[in-house]
Amino acid sequence: MKIEFLDKKDRSLLEQFYRESYSPKYILLRKDFFDWYTVKNPNYRDRFPDGQLPVLVLRDDKRILAHWVCGAQKFNFFGRNFSMFWTSNWMVHPDFRHRGLGALITNFLQKLPVDVLAANMVTKESRNVLERLNYQYQDLNRYLAVFSDEALNLVNHRNDPRVRDRLREVIIPAKNGDFANIEPVSAFAEDYNEFWHSGFAPVAQGGARDADFLNWRYPQAPFFEYRCFVVKDNQKKIKGVIVLRIDEIRNTNYRACRMLEFFTDPEWAKLAAEFVISYARREKCVFLDYYNLFSGFDSFFAEAGILKNDSVLSTEIPRLTQPVAHENWFINAVFWKRNPEISNETFFNFDKWYTTSGDSDQDRKNF
Ligand SMILES: CC(C)(COP(=O)(O)OP(=O)(O)OC[C@H]1O[C@@H](n2cnc3c(N)ncnc32)[C@H](O)[C@@H]1OP(=O)(O)O)[C@@H](O)C(=O)NCCC(=O)NCCS
Repeated sequence: MKIEFLDKKDRSLLEQFYRESYSPKYILLRKDFFDWYTVKNPNYRDRFPDGQLPVLVLRDDKRILAHWVCGAQKFNFFGRNFSMFWTSNWMVHPDFRHRGLGALITNFLQKLPVDVLAANMVTKESRNVLERLNYQYQDLNRYLAVFSDEALNLVNHRNDPRVRDRLREVIIPAKNGDFANIEPVSAFAEDYNEFWHSGFAPVAQGGARDADFLNWRYPQAPFFEYRCFVVKDNQKKIKGVIVLRIDEIRNTNYRACRMLEFFTDPEWAKLAAEFVISYARREKCVFLDYYNLFSGFDSFFAEAGILKNDSVLSTEIPRLTQPVAHENWFINAVFWKRNPEISNETFFNFDKWYTTSGDSDQDRKNF
């Protein structure tokens, strides 16, 4: 048995592993999705040598027994650049679980010359194992704006008066505003990079959302239609970014607005938050949600009616709209750092991390 990044020529082993470990409709079996998610990631070229896929596998000659999918990312932390892997799909073949293989391949990942490892959407079963491997677990902040009583119909616990009343309280009325400063864009260009490097990047820590990255992550993503917007001041300089997706809610005629990215210069945050509400209403969504680890916009969100929310609805949203999970689920992240230069105290202070549900691998339709 050996652990290595999978050679492209052995891709058929990966397909076999997916067929045996996931449902046959699993999205990573779609070559176009897999290629976009891995080799087309703009950070891939610098980090993974020619001929290899960014998929760390534990294998013998005939099959793969366990794997982690890795995506390289540039990572800015208090003005310094570190290397990071976003990892996902930690999977041990169902016939080989509870034999230490999951821990073995994770140990190997932790020895690679990468400063930070991160993973999102960690399952209940795996949280315990990762914490024993010194990963730090964090639930993402959940934000919710509810637009109509119809949203209440979606909640399993709607007959519980505490849940009903709590949700009624947060229903927000329609507002009109002047949103001429907010424009849809089909791609992010060089003027966006100017904003990113001087406007937002210095405020938050974490993965670089430069134009290359955002263009790959949203406009070029297969299967999903993301709606991207920029906020411009009166001199047409970019001051902020918003990315939304409108999801159909399973087995209903309702729609939900999922906010994936939101970052602006502070003076534009209120207008941007109001725009999002107004847009979601116009698209006939019954609620809007957003997940992140960055609390910098909380007060602007609260003013617009997007509330930090621990209500039962916010834990049910993944079940309602998440293309993969059919269960209530907290959207979370785990982080592990290798580099002792970054102190634990600053690193695990997540208020400054700009991580959103758009970083995660949740956007995966099964077919
Ligand atoms: C989660 C998963 C990857 C774990 O892999 P695994 O090979 O079964 O786990 P391991 O045998 O290496 O380690 C787990 C066991 O070792 C134990 N353990 C003991 N010492 C340990 C150590 N130092 N570090 C880690 N685990 C340790 C754990 O408590 C656990 O005990 P268990 O067998 O009673 O569950 C596997 O269950 C899986 O593929 N699940 C389905 C997909 C999934 O949920 N993926 C996670 C996405 S985040």
